[in-house]
Order: sequence, then C-alpha cells, then structure tokens
Amino acid sequence: MHAKALLACSLLSAACVVAETGKLGDADETQNNPFRTVYEATLLAKEGTNLRGSVTVSGSPDGRGIIYNVDFTGFPAEGGPFTYHVHDQPVPEDGNCTKTLAHLDPYIRGEVPPCDASKPETCQVGDLSGKYGNIEGIEGEERYKKAYIDRYTAITPGIGAFVGNRSIVVHYANKTRINCGNFVLKTTNPGGPGLPCRDGKCSTGTPIRGSPSRPTGPPMFEGDASKVSAFSATGILAIVIGLLW
Ligand SMILES: *[C@@H]1O[C@H](CO)[C@@H](O)[C@H](O)[C@H]1NC(C)=O
Ligand SMILES: *[C@@H]1O[C@H](CO)[C@@H](O)[C@H](O)[C@H]1NC(C)=O
Ligand SMILES: *[C@@H]1O[C@H](CO)[C@@H](O)[C@H](O)[C@H]1NC(C)=O
Repeated sequence: MHAKALLACSLLSAACVVAETGKLGDADETQNNPFRTVYEATLLAKEGTNLRGSVTVSGSPDGRGIIYNVDFTGFPAEGGPFTYHVHDQPVPEDGNCTKTLAHLDPYIRGEVPPCDASKPETCQVGDLSGKYGNIEGIEGEERYKKAYIDRYTAITPGIGAFVGNRSIVVHYANKTRINCGNFVLKTTNPGGPGLPCRDGKCSTGTPIRGSPSRPTGPPMFEGDASKVSAFSATGILAIVIGLLW
C-alpha cells in the first residue's frame, strides 16, 4: 500500500501532494491480530450523561485488521450527529475525557480534511465514525449497534496502530466529549471465541433500535485453527457467524 503510493509519486510528481493522507503515507493493513484475543472499552458511569455502552475488538479470522462490535445507548436528544474515535491516551483515574488527547493518528494525518470513508487507509487510524459512520437518529434508550472489520487498527502490541492501551471517546457534533472508556484485555483464551459479525461482510451493520440485550458470553468457537486457515476470509466469517449468532 505504502510502496504503491510512493510509486505513484515517482511517476507523477504532481500527485505527490495528496492532501488527505498522512505525513507518513496511507495506513498499512495490520496483520496477525490474534483471533481469540478480546479487548473491551466500557464507557464510564459518568455523571451528567446517560451515554453508556462498549466497544469490543478482537482479531479477525485471517488476522488482517480487527473486528469491532460497537454497542452504545443513552444518546442525548440534541447535539448529534455523534462521532467516536480511538484516542491516543487512556482515560486517567479522574475520568476526564479531555486527557485522552487527540485521535489515534500514527501516520500523522490530522483531522482536516474529514475522512473519506471510501478510502479508509487515508483516514486517521482512530477515526472510527469517519470510516464507518457517524451516529444519528438514535436517542434515549435506543441502542446503536454496529459490527465491522477495520483493517488499520491492531491488537498486536508494539505497533502504533495498537488500541489495547488506549481509549474510546464519544463526541457531540461540535467535538465536545460526552463519555469515554479504556480498552482492557478481556480474554486471550486460545480455545475461546472471537467476536461475531452480523453479516458476511462484517461491515454494514445497522443500528438496532430499542432491542433487548443479547445474552453475553457467546458460544465457544470449536474450529480447528489449521483447518480454518484453509478457508477464505468470507467463508470463515460465515462460519463464525453461524456458530456465534
Ligand atoms: C456542544 O454541544 C452540546 C449539545 O448541544 C452542548 O451542550 C455543548 O455546550 C456544546 N459545546 C460547545 C463547546 O459549544
Ligand atoms: C479536564 O482536563 C482538561 C485538560 O487537561 C482541563 O482543561 C479541564 O479543566 C479538565 N476538566 C475537569 C472537569 O477537571
Ligand atoms: C501503546 O502501545 C503502543 C504499542 O505498543 C505504544 O507505541 C504506545 O506508546 C502505547 N501508548 C500508551 C498510551 O501507553
């Protein structure tokens, strides 16, 4: 991906100044994210807002990128559309969301111009709502649920795209921070499940309004890793979905 961008530069120097990508180029796809390792960020029990919920991530079956399951409720009636991002720093003990600093942005892109969702590799790595949609038309007890694979964040420690030591922040449209929470490691159980996706592409989940909570603790994924690796990513996802939902 990066090499391609450089090639385009040398062939057509005018195209070298690509405003929307990072100073360090487009985000690389992350690899080898462990499928059965799960991190979860739970929004704080913060006074002054009813916004609650969580963002759970795990490795995808082929290890490319990570699966997100977003589940929020309690949005205010005003002030949307709402956005959410992975922020660079964790929330400190005082619960002050401002101290998480800026969006996770290892390629030094900045927030402006806004992310073009059709080119997610050019967006800030942590700009989840930029890549997968802002939250609109959800308020009160309605729930916003969405599942997708993001190819540019990681749960493999040691690289800038690692999210496991960072936080999720939800914002009003005017960028004021509503609530936040830190990712914590939930499981590395080698026989345990990864995360489910709601559809084969794992990318077009739609909000579910006012639906009751699903029971937590999905069933175990029984597949044999060596057999699983022989299937296509889509096939594996279909199997995972079949087993887990
Ligand atoms: C942002 O919008 C919210 C909701 O409309 C409002 O309560 C808050 O004061 C606004 N913040 C700023 C800095 O304007
Ligand atoms: C939260 O942190 C920011 C940045 O450090 C600071 O300006 C702000 O006053 C803090 N807010 C509260 C309520 O302590
Ligand atoms: C989180 O982990 C990454 C990769 O290991 C590291 O580069 C980064 O400095 C860490 N960030 C924090 C806030 O600890």
